[in-house]
Amino acid sequence: MTLNTQQWLEADRNTVFHASTPLGQYARGEMGGRIIAGAEGIRIYDSQGTELIDAFAGLYCVNIGYGRPEMAEAMYEQAKKLAYYHTYVGHSNQALIELSRRILDKAPANMSKVYYGLSGSDANETQIKLVWYYNNVLGRPEKKKIISRERGYHGSSVAAGSLTGLPLFHAHFDLPLERIHHTVAPYYYRRGDDSLSEQAFSRWCAEQLEAKILAEGPDTVAAMIAEPVLGTGGIVPPPQGYWSEIRKVLDKYDILLIADEVVCGFGRLGTEFGSLHYDMRPDLMTVAKGLTSAYQPLSGVIVGENVWQTLERGTDDWGAIGHGYTYSGHPMGAAAALCNLDIIERENLVANAEHTGAHLQRRMKETFGGHPLVGECRGIGLLAALEFSADPASRTPLEPALKVGPRIAAACLQQGLIARAMPHGDILGFAPPLVVTPDDIDDIVARTQKAVNTVTDELVRSGEWRPARD
Ligand SMILES: Cc1ncc(COP(=O)(O)O)c(C=O)c1O
Repeated sequence: MTLNTQQWLEADRNTVFHASTPLGQYARGEMGGRIIAGAEGIRIYDSQGTELIDAFAGLYCVNIGYGRPEMAEAMYEQAKKLAYYHTYVGHSNQALIELSRRILDKAPANMSKVYYGLSGSDANETQIKLVWYYNNVLGRPEKKKIISRERGYHGSSVAAGSLTGLPLFHAHFDLPLERIHHTVAPYYYRRGDDSLSEQAFSRWCAEQLEAKILAEGPDTVAAMIAEPVLGTGGIVPPPQGYWSEIRKVLDKYDILLIADEVVCGFGRLGTEFGSLHYDMRPDLMTVAKGLTSAYQPLSGVIVGENVWQTLERGTDDWGAIGHGYTYSGHPMGAAAALCNLDIIERENLVANAEHTGAHLQRRMKETFGGHPLVGECRGIGLLAALEFSADPASRTPLEPALKVGPRIAAACLQQGLIARAMPHGDILGFAPPLVVTPDDIDDIVARTQKAVNTVTDELVRSGEWRPARD
């Protein structure tokens, strides 16, 4: 078919059901679309030749950057040798065995085995099943509730979508499921009590968790799931002392910790895993995105030795585990992951995330600290956010109807830059590929500055907002 962009978009509107999209508006052509035609390094190109710097690495996943020929070659070689075989009843493939060893070598020392899926959502579904099975083996059929956090993001399937703590993913879908509960987000910027230090706020979060556990009954609570750094809920690093306070509460009530490392895993924070960075000491870990840099769909559930021993006991008594996907341990995913990990190691991308990440955090603070529309610049490694505010001094949120976050993201596009308007609040997120350089960061920050200033001027000119104290 030789179609022009408008014809392609028309065909798209007629046939494709898009993720996270207002379906009617898009199908009727009331909002624009974009056809991505190619990508290289940190840049993507659309069908009309527009070049954009992708400062969100797709959905924080293309960590090695786009268009790496050796990834294509690794997948091609694997496809020629063995494109598929299942992993049921002890069948394996060499790529998978090698990959599992590599993952476990990087993971905390108590991690024992890796189960594979295709997405962060399905891996978190697996986590829930494993936790329930674990407590059945231990003769604790009541200990099944899972505590997640408001603003946590863990996927959008039925159970993983229930774990997610964002109203958009629950409303009108009859979620969350009954056994899933949410505790407070460690969102220091949005603390109610101004007098609290970070450490005191962390203690308050842990007290809230404990109160929730006591209200539900400690014998009914099986696990807590959490991202080391809140991602889609606003890119919020935990306040000082948070993870050690939380860990104490979980230990007290014999509750497992699942670290959702889908965003943080394989380098984004400047360490292999967020769990290691914050000494979370999880019992189970979820990985996806950065495992293959999204060149193939692949996710993993990394199971700690304690849980593993219990699973073994269960299957000794009850027979083979009743869990598995046709594509679990797919050799194409494993080959892509191996090549991806080679690139990350050879190019020192974890160290780059630390150094260039520090440059990003510094440049953001220098550029936007004191800006009348910016309440907070925050982040860690190559994960950063700007939170906009009507009055930074009092941390007053902007009127949601002004849609300042989406407007600034749109203004960034005008500057040739993709930054993400996070779905909850006026927050602009950055998670560039880990191959980004300090010069790229300067470019990203300069384009963002133009976009933020353009929208600030627009708001003032139209009378929609004015600086609180000028
Ligand atoms: C922390 C976290 N967990 C799970 C998921 C879900 O992954 P997927 O979209 O691959 O199902 C995401 C996706 O953004 C995520 O950020």
